[in-house]
Amino acid sequence: MSEKVKLKYKNKEFEFPLIMGSENEKGIDIKTLRSQTGLITYDPGYKNTGSCTSQITFLNGEEGILRHRGYSIEDLCKNVSFLEVAFLLIFGNMPTEKELNLLNDEIRKDSLVDEDLKLILKSFPKSAHPMGILSSLTSGLIAFNPSSVDIESEDDMREAIIMLIAKFPILASWTHRKVKGLPLNYANTSLSYVENIAHMMFKLPHQDFKPSPVVVNALNKLLILHADHEQNCSTSTVRIVGSSEAGLFASVSAGVSALWGRLHGGANQGVIEMLKAIKRDGGDTKKFMARAKDKNDSFRLMGFGHRVYKNFDPRARIIKKSADQVLGELGINDPILNIAKSLEEEALNDSYFIDRKLYPNVDFYSGIIYRALGIPTEMFTVMFALGRLPGWIAQWAEMRKNKEPIGRPRQIYTGNTKRTI
Ligand code: ACO
Repeated sequence: MSEKVKLKYKNKEFEFPLIMGSENEKGIDIKTLRSQTGLITYDPGYKNTGSCTSQITFLNGEEGILRHRGYSIEDLCKNVSFLEVAFLLIFGNMPTEKELNLLNDEIRKDSLVDEDLKLILKSFPKSAHPMGILSSLTSGLIAFNPSSVDIESEDDMREAIIMLIAKFPILASWTHRKVKGLPLNYANTSLSYVENIAHMMFKLPHQDFKPSPVVVNALNKLLILHADHEQNCSTSTVRIVGSSEAGLFASVSAGVSALWGRLHGGANQGVIEMLKAIKRDGGDTKKFMARAKDKNDSFRLMGFGHRVYKNFDPRARIIKKSADQVLGELGINDPILNIAKSLEEEALNDSYFIDRKLYPNVDFYSGIIYRALGIPTEMFTVMFALGRLPGWIAQWAEMRKNKEPIGRPRQIYTGNTKRTI
């Protein structure tokens, strides 16, 4: 017999079944809670709430485990390309050579956007934040590709998925070119997916461009490390927007907006701004540590802490090693890296951070690598979005296939009771 949980309320006993995951995670299935008891649960920030079952990503925050479709993040980073990880996340298995070639061909065919999208881009001031531009352009894709909203057809769904994988890097690189006042680059389909991202972002009209293997490898790793992270803020946004039967592009556009915030994807920009501020201030890390611990100061140590990881973030370990390697290979000596290392060491030995289980997250070191690759600070979160795209797509597609009900939480009303004018 399956395990059950009992709830006692007003001298009555109610039973709820346990739901068990493939890694023995257990949850209480409260689907009938309200109809049986008249009660709802209250869980701000959904710290204890499972919103779905999912076969995409397994994460164990206590043990620092992250696996996509069963493969560890360490294995993936070491052995495969970002596009292979994208295929794995979206379609469930590692692609065969034939499947990968087909995917590449399909992407190459779709690596173009309607010229009129440039009119939308043109209307933004150069001072606009790239994430705002990227979200608008992604939403703009719907108008130029209306079939992308038909979620009933499997073929249309695949077409929309390929279209987005192909066009999103164009939008991301055009965002960068716009804020930098540079001419827009088109895709070079003789390059690999990641080389092409580097080409569209960095190729200048008056110079030849050959993506350096160091840059491409670093980008590949960074994109893989960000590719999916189960039900985080932006992914939950994508799923909840999609649950209303909004199309893929609309859902991903909303995901970009959710990622923008400093407590989520915007943390990578926040980290570099914080490290620069420490440097400008004379490099006194202790002063900033004190501020982070002061409850009357809103300052937080950016890139530290995670809702789920309470031991270490496995992505942060990989990225720290990679930061040393990439800076070494590019011959860059960035004083900010030393500040980051001192800050990390102090935090890891400080009881405030130890007691609260606060460790560096993926974005503590990612900005240092982006900087070394010549990517401007305000573009960091766009780079995160490029990496997270396959995760958003996979989660959206799973939600559609599972025919999940529309996402619609309840509330406990605490406003005025009935009154008259
Ligand atoms: N600096 C200082 N104190 C912190 C930090 C931090 N970075 N993070 C958490 N705390 C403290 C909180 O003040 C709180 O202290 P208290 O118990 O004395 O009140 C305690 O640690 C728990 O923090 P919560 O905010 O309740 O934890 P939550 O799980 O809600 O938040 C979050 C996680 C948002 C990531 C938080 O740690 C944070 O703000 N970090 C900095 C921003 C950041 O790096 N975000 C990127 C996350 S990774 C990603 O999205 C890719």
